[in-house]
Amino acid sequence: MAEINSDINKAKALLDADNLIGFPTETVYGLAGNSLKAEVVSKIFEVKNRPHFDPLILHSYSLEAISQYVKEIPDKAKLLAKAFWPGPLTILLERNNKIPDLTCSGLERAAFRIPKHPKALSLLKILDYPLAAPSANPFGYISPTNSQHVQQQLGDKIPFILEGEISEVGIESTIVGFENEETIIYRLGGLEVDKIEKIIGKVKVLPHSSSKPNAPGMLKSHYAPRKNIILGDIEELIKQKDEIKLGVLSFSKSYKDVVMSLVLSESKNMHEAAKNLFSHLRKLDESNVDLIITEKVPSEGLGKAINDRLQRAAVKE
Ligand code: TXA
Ligand code: MG
Repeated sequence: MAEINSDINKAKALLDADNLIGFPTETVYGLAGNSLKAEVVSKIFEVKNRPHFDPLILHSYSLEAISQYVKEIPDKAKLLAKAFWPGPLTILLERNNKIPDLTCSGLERAAFRIPKHPKALSLLKILDYPLAAPSANPFGYISPTNSQHVQQQLGDKIPFILEGEISEVGIESTIVGFENEETIIYRLGGLEVDKIEKIIGKVKVLPHSSSKPNAPGMLKSHYAPRKNIILGDIEELIKQKDEIKLGVLSFSKSYKDVVMSLVLSESKNMHEAAKNLFSHLRKLDESNVDLIITEKVPSEGLGKAINDRLQRAAVKE
C-alpha cells in the first residue's frame, strides 16, 4: 500500500530519488516521475502497463521554466498560456534534446501543462525538473479523481500518493497543437473549445480514433469500465433490459426500478457533471450491476468532452 500524505517535501525527496508518486491535479490524478530521466519514465510505462507509442504530458509551474525545453513558443501558444495556465489545457510544443525520446515516444513535439491544483503547483515549484504524469490508472481504465482511486489501482506499485482532495475538473485536459497556420484540438477535455476560440479564433477538432492515433486519448476503447456499458435512450433501454440488474448513469434525472441510479448533475451543470463522471462510472463498475446504461449529455461546453468519454467507454473490444 502507498503512503497517502500531503507533505510536498516528502514527495520531492521520493521523486529526487527516482521514485514515482501519485500526484493530484485539478483534472485527474497523475502517476508522476522525473520527465528528464528515461529510466524513471520507463517505470511509468511499466506501472501503467502503457504502450510506448503513447507519449506523456510534462507538468511544470511556469512558461519560463517550460521555455528551457522547447525550440520556440508560437504566439498563439503564448496567448493560450496567458489565458488558461495554470489550468486544464495541454499545449504541444517542439521540444529540444533535453527531453528524452521515451517521454514523448520519439515525437518532435512534447506536451506541456501547468496544472491549477495548489498542491501540484507547490510541488512543481520546488523541483528541478518537469514531472511526466499520465493519469494514474492502469492503461485503458477510468481515470482517478481522488487519492483512494489511485491507491486501489496502483497502491501496491508506488510508495507514495500526494493527498490533494478531489479533482475539481474531473476530466483530463484539453490538448491543443499547431499545424501550419491551424490550431488543432487533439483531445477534448476540461477546457471548453469555445473558450479557446474566443482567444485565438477558429480551431479544428480532430475526429476520433484511427489506427495511428495522434494523441492516444483518441483510442476508441479508452476510459472503459470493465462492465459492459450501453449508450442510448435510458427509458427505452430499461424497458428492453428488464431481466438484467441495471446500473444507470444519467445526466440530470434519477431512475427507480434499477439497482443503482447515479446522476451527473441534477441542476444540469456541466462542471458538476464533469467532476462526477469518472467517480460515478467507477462506483457503477464496482457495484453488483450486470450492465451499465447511460445517455449523452447536451453537446455544449464541457458536454462535448463528457460525451466523448462516454462514447469511448461504451465501445467494447
Ligand atoms: O489532465 C491531464 O492531461 C492528465 C493530468 C494528470 O495532467 N494527464 C493525462 O495524461 O491525461 P494521459 O497520459 O493519460 O493522456 C495524455 C495524452 C495521451 O493521449 C497522449 O498520447 C497525449 O496526451 N500526448 C502526450 N504527448 C503528446 C505528443 N507529444 N503529441 C501528441 N499527443 C501527446
Ligand atoms: Mg489517461
